[in-house]
Formats: sequence, structure tokens, C-alpha cells
Amino acid sequence: MTNAGVIGWPIAHSRSPLIHGYWLKAFGIAGTYTRVPVEPQDVERFLRSLAAEGFAGCNVTVPHKEAAFRIANEKHASAVAVGAANTLWLEGGRLHAANTDTYGFMTYLAARAPQWQRRDAPVAVLGAGGAARAIVHGFLEAGVAQVRVFNRSRARADDLAAHFGAKVRAFDWDQRNAHAADCCVLVNTTSVGMKGEGHLDIDATRLHASCVVADIVYVPLETELLRSARAAGLTTVDGLGMLLHQAVPGFERWFGKRPVVTDELYDLIAADVRAS
Ligand code: ATR
Repeated sequence: MTNAGVIGWPIAHSRSPLIHGYWLKAFGIAGTYTRVPVEPQDVERFLRSLAAEGFAGCNVTVPHKEAAFRIANEKHASAVAVGAANTLWLEGGRLHAANTDTYGFMTYLAARAPQWQRRDAPVAVLGAGGAARAIVHGFLEAGVAQVRVFNRSRARADDLAAHFGAKVRAFDWDQRNAHAADCCVLVNTTSVGMKGEGHLDIDATRLHASCVVADIVYVPLETELLRSARAAGLTTVDGLGMLLHQAVPGFERWFGKRPVVTDELYDLIAADVRAS
């Protein structure tokens, strides 16, 4: 029996057990995937005794992604680029760390909007936290000409740009409408747009007619940003798909089968989000 799980603090609202539970059942694998509440002061002890705790590996969520990266023995390129890990597994007694948020975002973007990349056009990223880093890395890997990062605190956008180099440019938050107008993708990586978390104030009518608008927020499923983009006739990419796709590589590592993100799985998690 293989056991995996997700660690975080708090962890009660994680939907990862629903996702992995769906795949375990679909494959008929006698494994488990559970929520494991781990307090910040306990994360190192927990990860160092992962095998003794009976786990083949785990997902890592807020606030442990940076600690998990630091503690891991083998840091994969996906995690090094971001400086944080969300997927851990044991191999030969060593703790391996990867970051699958980049994969999750880019895979869903390509699935929903295969034509997202417009020759020589920049992309716009709202926010400069851990999620922004994962997505900026994905755009650079995809070969975009320039990534424009807009963040409320300018210093954090500058840090992110410095980390990734000349193709990433930092902007002030209040420049987001003017400097997103020629972009081929605009993505929100901030928590703004979640229930009760304020407004992004993006004027979708100013965006290029072929601009793809994405949001990593998935509660609600259709954020104000996505709704206004859809109303302006633009292609939209929701946050739930990224959540589902980022789970794929972890499941394959722990349970040995590569799962598929089906419409049925999407609908199952969407129903859970709507009920929350
Ligand atoms: P994550 O790891 O999920 O990206 P994070 O590191 O806490 O989370 O980053 C949150 C992002 O949302 C940051 O870019 C933050 O902006 P600051 O760096 O200025 O804090 C952004 N954010 C949160 N609340 C915001 C708000 N009300 N308006 C604009 N940006 C906001």
C-alpha cells in the first residue's frame, strides 16, 4: 500500500485529496492520499521522517513551499527556478523536490488556448509572489520575448525581475492597464478576486483582441477578471485547471501511473468549489 498526502497549515480546505482520490479509484490502486496538518515549527521534523511516517511522498502547500525546497536533498530544476517546492518524493532514501505549478499552468494554458503565443508580444503577470515566479519561469521556458510584472509593492517586482534577468521587466501596479494593452497573455497570480479580496480593476476592453486572460484564483470559478474578459470577447483560462494539472506529476511519482485530467474530474472539483 502506497501512502501520500498534502501538508500545510491550515490544510482543512485542500482539494488535493478529492483529486488524488478520484485517480486512485479510477486506476483501482489500493493507496491513500490524506490531508496532514503540519505546523510551521514541525515541518522539518516531519519531512525528515516522511518514510517513518509511512509516506512515499507528499504535496506541499502554504506556508511550507520554501521550507520544503530548503530541506530537500535533491532539488529538481523546476523547483530551483522558483525557489519553492510543491511536490516531494523519496528515492533511494533521499528526499526529492520539484515544483509542478509551472507545468500545471503552462499545460492548462496550452490546452485551453493553444494559440496563446503571439510572435514577439510580451505577457503580463499580476503579482510577484511564489505563484508568479512559477508562471514567469514557464513563460521564459516557452520563449516569450518579454514578461512584464506588475506588483503592488514595486520592490518585490524588482526582486523577481532581478532573479530572472533581462527578459523580465518590473512595473508599478498602477501601470497595469496601460502596459498590458499589447500583451498576448495577462495572468493574475495575486489573491485579488477571491471572495472578499477586492478588485483588480483591469479594463479588459483595452486588451489586444487576441489576448488570453488567465487567473489562478479558482474560488469563485469565474472571477471578476475572467468575467469581464469573457464579456470583452477574449479567451479565458480559469484557475481550477492549473490546480488539476499540477497534481499529475506527483500522482505518477507516488503511484506509478500517469493520470489524466478528465472533464468528469473537472466537474467533480468544480461542484465542490461551488458548494463552498
Ligand atoms: P503566492 O505564493 O501564492 O504567490 P504570496 O507570495 O503571498 O502568495 O504573494 C501574493 C501576491 O498577491 C503578491 O504579489 C501580493 O502583492 P505584494 O507583494 O504587494 O504584497 C499580491 N496581493 C495580495 N493582496 C493584494 C491586493 N489587495 N492588491 C494587489 N496585490 C495584492
